[in-house]
Amino acid sequence: MNEILIFLGPPGAGKGTQAKQLCEDRNLVQISTGDMLRSHRSRGTELGKQAQAIMDRGELVSDDIIVGMVRDEITSMEAGNTRVLFDGFPRTTAQAEALDQLLVDSSLSLTATVLLDVEEEELVQRLLKRAEIEGRADDNEETIRNRMKVYNTQTAPLIAFYEEKGMLKRVAGLGSVEEVYGRISEVLPK
Ligand code: AP5
Repeated sequence: MNEILIFLGPPGAGKGTQAKQLCEDRNLVQISTGDMLRSHRSRGTELGKQAQAIMDRGELVSDDIIVGMVRDEITSMEAGNTRVLFDGFPRTTAQAEALDQLLVDSSLSLTATVLLDVEEEELVQRLLKRAEIEGRADDNEETIRNRMKVYNTQTAPLIAFYEEKGMLKRVAGLGSVEEVYGRISEVLPK
């Protein structure tokens, strides 16, 4: 049976962390546009080279590139068994509209959008801590602040976009990873 979920939320909200467990438990394929871009960077592809400077500034890669990557993933999936969790996509209204169209074209419908709600100072602290462990290029304070600004201006309007469709599930993202996971499980269909 098809299932299409979206994880929405600011940088550091826990989208990637929660996505891994949820995909395992619900047999979903995680589509993380951030991971896909980082894979292009580490392989040194043309797309990776184009994206590098944009990501390091904390800006968004162009909608056309992102939608093209997602379209390739979705259209290669088995019809009737498309089970996907989008992590970090869509991030702009144009991407959300393109996803709507892609779902219509593939006779699919959205199951739910989960918003992970965490206040900004906690997010900054989480990402600075990750910087010490993983050394991700965009986890420095200046870029983190810009990623927050970009989220607030370009991605946060999607909260109203999905709320108006009756698709938004808000989940408090503060607490242990297990506590947050429990809250996410509660708002999703069994
Ligand atoms: P992307 O990789 O999507 O980064 P992001 O949205 O900034 O997300 P993060 O990975 O930083 O946070 P997360 O919410 O996944 O949290 P996580 O679980 O990792 O995008 C990177 C860049 O790629 C963008 O800036 C842009 O340039 C480009 N890009 C990607 N998608 C794009 C798109 N659709 N359009 C255009 N450009 C795009 O957790 C963060 C940390 O917190 C971890 O260390 C984790 O261990 C910790 N943590 C998690 N949960 C908890 C908890 N409950 N308590 C304490 N710590 C926790």
